[in-house]
Amino acid sequence: MKKLFAVLILAALPVFSFAAEHGGPELEKIDIDLADKAALQDGARTFANYCMGCHSAKFQRYERVADDLGIPHDLMLNNLVFTGAKIGDHMKIGMQPADAKTWFGAAPPDLTLVARVRGTDWLYGYLKSFYEDPSRPFGANNKVFPNVGMPNVLAGLQGRQVVGCKQIQVVEDGKKQYDPLTGTPLTHEACDQLTILPKTGALTEEQFDEKVKNLVTFLAYSANPVKLEHQRIGTYVLLYLAFFFVFAYLLKREYWKDIH
Ligand code: HEC
Repeated sequence: MKKLFAVLILAALPVFSFAAEHGGPELEKIDIDLADKAALQDGARTFANYCMGCHSAKFQRYERVADDLGIPHDLMLNNLVFTGAKIGDHMKIGMQPADAKTWFGAAPPDLTLVARVRGTDWLYGYLKSFYEDPSRPFGANNKVFPNVGMPNVLAGLQGRQVVGCKQIQVVEDGKKQYDPLTGTPLTHEACDQLTILPKTGALTEEQFDEKVKNLVTFLAYSANPVKLEHQRIGTYVLLYLAFFFVFAYLLKREYWKDIH
């Protein structure tokens, strides 16, 4: 019994340590739809254009992505492959880890499985949380991953994000609060908040959120490309079992008929 107890406690340990590690700002929850082909295609485009300069997805092949996402091979090669790779190649990059380490202080990790390691909420929060910080080598820091070596590569889309004080609406029990007399929102000043300076990016805040969500959807797919297939096969398996059950039942009735 004691042994069993010890095993159970040991088994639970990683869960606790993981929970403890999760400090930092609270992460927004996002709903990812792996069946949304348009989102996946947009995410793949963003990934090829903005991430593959530094990050590989080397456990994934271009061809597989093209087929899974419904992108014709020639479109894929012309628009999403910049390394001269062939359609059957893995999504590798030319940058050498040693060089990258000298340039950025850390090598950009392969991102094929990052959604499994970090989770989609974390990725979404991370990609939205770069802000200007002149004390950093590339002038940018990150709220979710402090002092990260990665430059703010999406700044052109998002605009200039800074940390400062701003008025935010008072929320009690999950409800936004309004002045009972005038109906105007009740606000209080909060500091250390991220703010995007208006009209400094190519996208509006909503468009940027969508872009990042699509990118995270693509990373989630990349970390688990067979998930789509599992769901499809799962349906067939259940149908088969239901079908088989009927025959098993009839057969059982047949066998037991004479015994009763
Ligand atoms: C200019 C090079 C560069 C580009 C472009 C770039 N990154 Fe990075 N990225 C890095 C470096 C360097 C690190 C490692 C930072 C560290 O550990 O301090 C990193 C780290 C990360 C991490 C954290 C991985 C982990 O689990 O520790 C994620 C996630 C990430 N990048 C996603 C992206 C995505 C998505 C894009 C495209 C929008 C992108 N990066 C574009 C250089 C880059």
